[in-house]
Amino acid sequence: MDIKEAIESRKSVRRFLDKPVDQTIIKQILNTAARAPSGHNIQPWNVYAVTGDARDSLCNDIMQAAQTEPEKHQPEYDYYPTEWHEPYINRRRKLGYELYASVGIQRDDKDAREKQMLRNYLFFDAPVGIFVTTDRRLAIGTWLDMGMFIQNILIAARGYGLHTCGQAAFTWYHDIIQKHLGYPENEILLCGIALGYEDESAPENKLVTEREPAENFTQFFGF
Ligand SMILES: Cc1cc2nc3c(=O)[nH]c(=O)nc-3n(C[C@H](O)[C@H](O)[C@H](O)COP(=O)(O)O)c2cc1C
Repeated sequence: MDIKEAIESRKSVRRFLDKPVDQTIIKQILNTAARAPSGHNIQPWNVYAVTGDARDSLCNDIMQAAQTEPEKHQPEYDYYPTEWHEPYINRRRKLGYELYASVGIQRDDKDAREKQMLRNYLFFDAPVGIFVTTDRRLAIGTWLDMGMFIQNILIAARGYGLHTCGQAAFTWYHDIIQKHLGYPENEILLCGIALGYEDESAPENKLVTEREPAENFTQFFGF
């Protein structure tokens, strides 16, 4: 697969097949992802990959917390703003509308929306869950490096016929995740990633999100 095809065929998959992913492939994806640049080549990333019992027991604990005491759990950093502005309000609304419509959930059906949201904590059935952390003692610029590393994972996965979904939803349950994985205090959880083979028959995977064309977000000078 060439790079353009890998980038353009990436999408967030929200229903995966019950088909295991070989550990060798995961290592290869991570070795490729680690070719990401980072300021002074500090390589500020840590990865925790879970499958089988480790995955299931983590999912169970998070699901339990999300269903019984969600208000007790907060992220350590704000991935989303507390106050939204245009054009983001509209784009966000459009995604929510299209995503729920794809699985036949009505706008006012709160229970069904909640149920769909909770599927995050099953990694949308993906057999492999990945958690990415960085060192909280580093500066904000490090988060640029982390974005590049995370994107590399999503793209490299395509080279093996795999799909992914980035998951900020897990940041709410960083305390449970930290307990399961045992990483040190100085690490902060940035996101989870579901990794597996796409269920091509699932309507939620048919969603192709829009993008503004380059002319709309770029100003060219001196061309
Ligand atoms: C860091 C990050 C976190 C995300 N968190 C979630 C999430 O928690 N749940 C979810 O369903 N999608 C999540 N997404 C997927 C976005 O909604 C998705 O990337 C966006 O709508 C564009 O669609 P596409 O990935 O199919 O191109 C996340 C994406 C990124 C990059």
